[in-house]
Amino acid sequence: MTTHSFPAPRTCPYAPPPAYEAMREEAPLVEAAAPNGRVWLVTRYAEARQVLNGPGISTNPDTPGHPDQAFSTEPPPPELKEHMEQFKAGHFINLDPPEHTRFRRLLIPEFTVRRIRSMRPGIQRLVDDLIDDMLARGEADLVEAYGLAVPSLVICQLLGVPYEDHEFFQSRTRLMVSTETERETSFIAVNEIRQYLDDLVTQAEKAPKDDLLGRLIETGQLTHAELVGVIFLLLVAGHETTANMLPLSVLTLLKHPEQLAALRENPERWPEAVEEMLRYHSIVDWVAFDRVATEDQEIGGVRVRAGDGIYVLGASANWDERAFERPGEFDVERGARHHVAFGYGVHQCLGQNLARAELEIALRTLFERIPGLRLAVPEDEVPFKYDAVIFGAKALPVTW
Ligand code: HEM
Repeated sequence: MTTHSFPAPRTCPYAPPPAYEAMREEAPLVEAAAPNGRVWLVTRYAEARQVLNGPGISTNPDTPGHPDQAFSTEPPPPELKEHMEQFKAGHFINLDPPEHTRFRRLLIPEFTVRRIRSMRPGIQRLVDDLIDDMLARGEADLVEAYGLAVPSLVICQLLGVPYEDHEFFQSRTRLMVSTETERETSFIAVNEIRQYLDDLVTQAEKAPKDDLLGRLIETGQLTHAELVGVIFLLLVAGHETTANMLPLSVLTLLKHPEQLAALRENPERWPEAVEEMLRYHSIVDWVAFDRVATEDQEIGGVRVRAGDGIYVLGASANWDERAFERPGEFDVERGARHHVAFGYGVHQCLGQNLARAELEIALRTLFERIPGLRLAVPEDEVPFKYDAVIFGAKALPVTW
């Protein structure tokens, strides 16, 4: 069996890393080299869902053999270790059931389809205000003025975090997700956000408001450290993801004017189009899908042993010919809702209904209100985040 190198780089903004196609062809699970051993890479859709939903699979980085350990070559210095310990409370994306279930149960009512529907008029108003601002200026960087602004405004409103502070936590989040950031700098960035949120939670505990944080405090089920961890996770997870999806989707739609025209004529098709954008771009790819087997088991014809580290290649699964015909073609009418861009199983994205609503409202309204929207620079001058673990455009200068 070939041992592949990992992570494989993207070379085109409209496709997963080219190495994935051959890996997928080779087998549903292939091996990759890591500094401290080897890890499995899951390349195909069916096996991706099996692993993400699997019993006998853990997402907890402390579980022996977790890929985090395979890639860290030296232990962190003691002062960072202390920060890392604090970081664990409430960070339920890294917990397995039943600990994970305790958090998920408390949060699910905040993200139901019904709850998100009630947020739509607020999202629409905020999107309209941002477009008013852009129209007043004549041209804009869509990443800064729209991509980042929409999800930050929405998440701040939902959580009860003051939007005035968005530049502070956006700059820190950017450091956290760049692969060029030194580990120490990344921990400092994490710690600064946590300190900020710690103060915010302390204030809210004294006088809870009617926002998500206030309601969580009122349940009395979470400790102070857990509250900080939960708000941290929601702030970061709900932010960089949607922020990257929006400009990329705009760019892709501008490249497919006939599909954009059809959407303008049939706006009820936007939700389906959003699913295709999520599948096609698969911006999260493997970064959230680090797992470890806790029992020996067979996956895709391979004997996986307890303690084996696994990465699911989400972008490969979403381009698997076995699950999506002509996966390399962008087709807003294909019915792509079964994609794994939000994951699958117990950790499936908690904020997916919110993300869908934001993308649908923001894209529909942008093209409705600015029908002449176009790139302000040649396409090959658009800079992309080939250095980040979540893919996107660094800037998208547009005019109309
Ligand atoms: C286009 C936007 C988004 C994408 C592509 C995305 C993607 C994902 C993925 C792939 C996972 C699964 C991680 C795993 O299996 O371990 C996930 C989990 C999660 N997402 Fe999202 N997400 C998006 C938006 C959001 C938003 C808007 C929020 C919150 C407001 C959010 C909150 C979360 C949380 C809390 C988890 C952890 C769930 C758990 O472990 O139970 N996400 N997301």
